[in-house]
Amino acid sequence: MKVDGKAMRSIWVEPDGWSVGIIDQTALPHRLVTARLATIEEAAQAIRSMLVRGAPLIGAVAAYGVCLALRADASEESLDRAYAVLSGARPTAINLKWALDEIAAAVRNRPRSERCAAAYRRAAEICDQDVAINSAIGRNGLPLIEAIAARKKPGQSVNVLTHCNAGWLATVDVGTATAPIYLAHDQGLPVHVFADETRPRNQGASLTAWELGRHGVPHTVIADNTGGHLMQHGLVDLVIVGTDRVTANGDVCNKIGTYLKALAARDNGVPFYVALPSPTIDFTTADGVSEIPIEQRSPDEVATVTGRAADGRIETVRIVPEGSPVANYAFDVTPARLITGLITERGIIAASREALTGAFPERNHGAQ
Ligand code: MRU
Repeated sequence: MKVDGKAMRSIWVEPDGWSVGIIDQTALPHRLVTARLATIEEAAQAIRSMLVRGAPLIGAVAAYGVCLALRADASEESLDRAYAVLSGARPTAINLKWALDEIAAAVRNRPRSERCAAAYRRAAEICDQDVAINSAIGRNGLPLIEAIAARKKPGQSVNVLTHCNAGWLATVDVGTATAPIYLAHDQGLPVHVFADETRPRNQGASLTAWELGRHGVPHTVIADNTGGHLMQHGLVDLVIVGTDRVTANGDVCNKIGTYLKALAARDNGVPFYVALPSPTIDFTTADGVSEIPIEQRSPDEVATVTGRAADGRIETVRIVPEGSPVANYAFDVTPARLITGLITERGIIAASREALTGAFPERNHGAQ
């Protein structure tokens, strides 16, 4: 997408032809800072500490992490070590495992001398494929916004609520949940986004608001608890969220708080859609609620808030009394029954085992 008129992706190969450039998302929205990854350790740390985040981008960074490992040592042991280190960096988003499996398949059974180049080729393909998938999600989701716009009075916007950041920063480009929104906006449809702030790390307030603003999409940041009230008063036409993993039965794991939005949407008759790129499908997991490992992160993320002070300094302040225990669950699971539809690169499908298997039969090895 464009940042100040300049096209930018969230990940790229630097002009040296091998090291990997990323946006340090921990500095946004206050500063646009880039970082250079030159080792597998740096790639794993960038994922762990959330310089990069969002399921598809985590997968892309992991893919290049393997490239960096193989550049240093193209042995089988190095590949296995890279797989183990990177797959443990964050547990919930399945794109990480998907990307590592793709890279491993591309390099195994090749002579050592060819492995590194093969890994870089596959990593670049994974990135381009992500952009193509997200563009298709945009085209397939656009009619949802068009249909609502057609029912609106002149001058009224289509109000879309989204949670966390499933925008271009969470992917290589375009985003998943944001793809239909950007397309609608670019085609001149009046679309307005309610961006949940998304405590504790505030990806909605910091990242979604930043990228929508840079692209000129009208938006309003709301506290996480506001969505239900807005829906009760007819102020949300549509919810579109992203996902970190969709299980074989159509359950959707996404940023903590998504489930509550789905409940509120159901109670108020608001359509609740999930934008789903196929690498996010996990056919090996039968049931999301009981089987997906939910990442628990540092209590500090809940106990503190970081922002820019009036004098421009970035400050972190504590908001929880010293000594109060804090829990920090990073994701939750929305059961398939609460989901109106999954917007995929192959069309909008039901959140069900039959629909997922029908649309993506080639991904369904060993479904339970
Ligand atoms: O913890 P994060 O910031 O990696 O969580 C990101 C999300 O939950 C996104 O909604 C999800 O990865 C979908 S991204 C297209």
